[in-house]
Amino acid sequence: MNWTLVVGGMTQHVALITGAGHRLGAATAQRLMDEGWYVFIHVRSSVEQAEQNLRDAASRNERVCGEILQADLTVDAEVEGLVKSVIQHPLVKANGLAGLVHNASFYSQASFEDTPLETYRLLNRLHMEAPYALSQGCLAPLKQAQGCIIGIVDTSWGRAWEGLAHYTSSKAGLRQLMLNLAGELAPEVRVNCVAPGAIMAADWESEHFTKVLEKVPMGRSGEANDIAGAVHHLLSSPMLSGQVLHVDGGWTANEPQ
Ligand SMILES: NC(=O)c1ccc[n+]([C@@H]2O[C@H](COP(=O)([O-])OP(=O)(O)OC[C@H]3O[C@@H](n4cnc5c(N)ncnc54)[C@H](OP(=O)(O)O)[C@@H]3O)[C@@H](O)[C@H]2O)c1
Repeated sequence: MNWTLVVGGMTQHVALITGAGHRLGAATAQRLMDEGWYVFIHVRSSVEQAEQNLRDAASRNERVCGEILQADLTVDAEVEGLVKSVIQHPLVKANGLAGLVHNASFYSQASFEDTPLETYRLLNRLHMEAPYALSQGCLAPLKQAQGCIIGIVDTSWGRAWEGLAHYTSSKAGLRQLMLNLAGELAPEVRVNCVAPGAIMAADWESEHFTKVLEKVPMGRSGEANDIAGAVHHLLSSPMLSGQVLHVDGGWTANEPQ
């Protein structure tokens, strides 16, 4: 394929979004592709859904908008393979990497007593180690594009959440990693977080989700597109770095940390 440096007179923006086969990650990929970005849609298992999303984006935008890269982010060798696929890609060599979105996650609820250390380790790998390795491995193309890294965290920071110690603590680690890198990688690379509130319930939490919504000043859940819009805003705002953008309908403001 002939990869051109410029598209419509502008540098082609390229992004990698992890866990982008469905739900919030897929909406974010769609948004970026519709804004003219070329998106590496990382998946672990949602290949068919990602293929359909790519076909839809191609037909809406009348161009190839991205491609799928598959990896289990809890396996070091697969993270390394993902980094290689990205940094050796001709489009990245030509344009650098303008966006890296750490979105992949696994959300489950179980009491501390019933959660084995292995579950905790897997979440630490997914939420902290993989973002660390991907950010480090992709640093040269991120600098080349004066790019932006975004960690998708959540609103749990600083408070106790029943049955979520394994999840919230690894998200806290991701948040701190991102804020630290915002200082360390400036001025070449910006680093930010998006903290979704109650956006899209997991299958197991519909009852809990309804209770949460009673505490949200906006009185409703958000939509996947709200997260996509926040990510796009951070990616395209050259003075924003070190921010944690809460997309939560005012929930955090109502329950200060
Ligand atoms: N949904 C909400 O309301 C909400 C609220 C607060 C924060 N967030 C955060 O927002 C982000 C997106 O939320 P979501 O609900 O759309 O996420 P999700 O469906 O729970 O997970 C996103 C993707 O992560 C991937 N993933 C899981 N384990 C993986 C592994 N070992 N290796 C590689 N990929 C793996 C899965 O990919 P495959 O499908 O390809 O296997 C999955 O599609 C997450 O970081 C989440 O913590 C969401």
